[in-house]
Amino acid sequence: MEVEHIREIEKNKYMNLFRRQNVCFERGQGSTLYDTAGHAYTDFFGGIAVNSLGYNHPDLVKAISEQAGKLIHISNLYYNRPQAELIDKLVGDTFDKAFLCNSGAEANECAIKIVRKLAHEKGNGKTTIITAKESFHGRTLATVTATGQEKYSAPFSPLPDGFKYVPFNNLDALKSALTDDVGAIMLECIQGESGVMPATYDYLVGAYAYAKQKGVLLILDEVQTGSGRTGSFYAFEHYGIKPDIVTLAKGLGGGVPIGCCLARGEAGTAFAPGDHGTTFGGNPLACAAANVVVDKLLNTNMLDEITELGEYLKNSLSEKLSRHKFVLDIRGKGLLYGVQLDERIPVASIVGKMLSLGYVIGTCGHNTLRFAPPYVITRAEIDGMTDKLEMILSGINI
Ligand SMILES: Cc1ncc(COP(=O)(O)O)c(C=O)c1O
Repeated sequence: MEVEHIREIEKNKYMNLFRRQNVCFERGQGSTLYDTAGHAYTDFFGGIAVNSLGYNHPDLVKAISEQAGKLIHISNLYYNRPQAELIDKLVGDTFDKAFLCNSGAEANECAIKIVRKLAHEKGNGKTTIITAKESFHGRTLATVTATGQEKYSAPFSPLPDGFKYVPFNNLDALKSALTDDVGAIMLECIQGESGVMPATYDYLVGAYAYAKQKGVLLILDEVQTGSGRTGSFYAFEHYGIKPDIVTLAKGLGGGVPIGCCLARGEAGTAFAPGDHGTTFGGNPLACAAANVVVDKLLNTNMLDEITELGEYLKNSLSEKLSRHKFVLDIRGKGLLYGVQLDERIPVASIVGKMLSLGYVIGTCGHNTLRFAPPYVITRAEIDGMTDKLEMILSGINI
């Protein structure tokens, strides 16, 4: 099928939701994607921070193929070995319980329901969840309401009650908002969608300490920052804190849809049978894929490599781009970086130009270019990408 034909079908028959780039990818190898015409592209976006091991990774392909030949789905009415192996690793020494689902939004729904269930159980009215302005937590009605950006939720009112929003990285505002009805604080370690905005050390550590002092839960949404993205398995490890609930998705399955909500203490035991559930969540196929990703992260030097590659990416971006006065900021950690540009330069046009030069990059809030490559990206590929970006930015006169 020709690309034009594919585009036509999508335009006419897919709900009007996505502004797609004019390319149809067919296969990939390592960090390289190939379109239907055979053109190669180096991928610095990884399917929105998902394809952690890159494309056609032999271990991932082997595990998925073998599992597909045995059992793809069986439901949660029965045990399955890949699920047990996965939750054993994810719960580890840090958490007590896990719930497996299919996406980040679902993982966050689970976290939200835990807070509500505890409040109902105790009859203490602590049903409210504080989230940060500019956060992003998903597209279901509850998670889009948790998301501190009206543009995502306003068209879908009436919205669920019980969320309030505070400015990010402002501990005093968070403390003032923590009234008696609050049961949890929900934050991202780095706000990915709104511009790769890292939580400051003092903010996150302060939020953790204050939540503890007030007896409210700290939920960290690590859908984007978890599964090794920042150079530690969880981004919260950089802060030396231990949240009550953590959510994962995106990179966890290396491209196979999977989400996870991990909880400690009373948060882990809030549910009773029938309170929550999922048909597909924790299926053996997705768990077999996630087991490969988690094993690579925990049992090889992959996390160190992500850290080193991240430093290399940061330095390469800084050396080549920061001389331009319209480059306002370069920020991030590990293999999640954002380059914020002056509002007069539409980032979408830079993405288009990069694509035509064979590089896939993304965007996010605050006119920011976003880089979230597979963990197998090489230094040479980083050099190639930053050279091309520098070339494009050098042609801009404002
Ligand atoms: C921090 C964060 N939470 C939740 C989500 C929602 O994840 P999903 O699209 O898998 O539902 C995203 C997606 O971008 C995210 O970045």
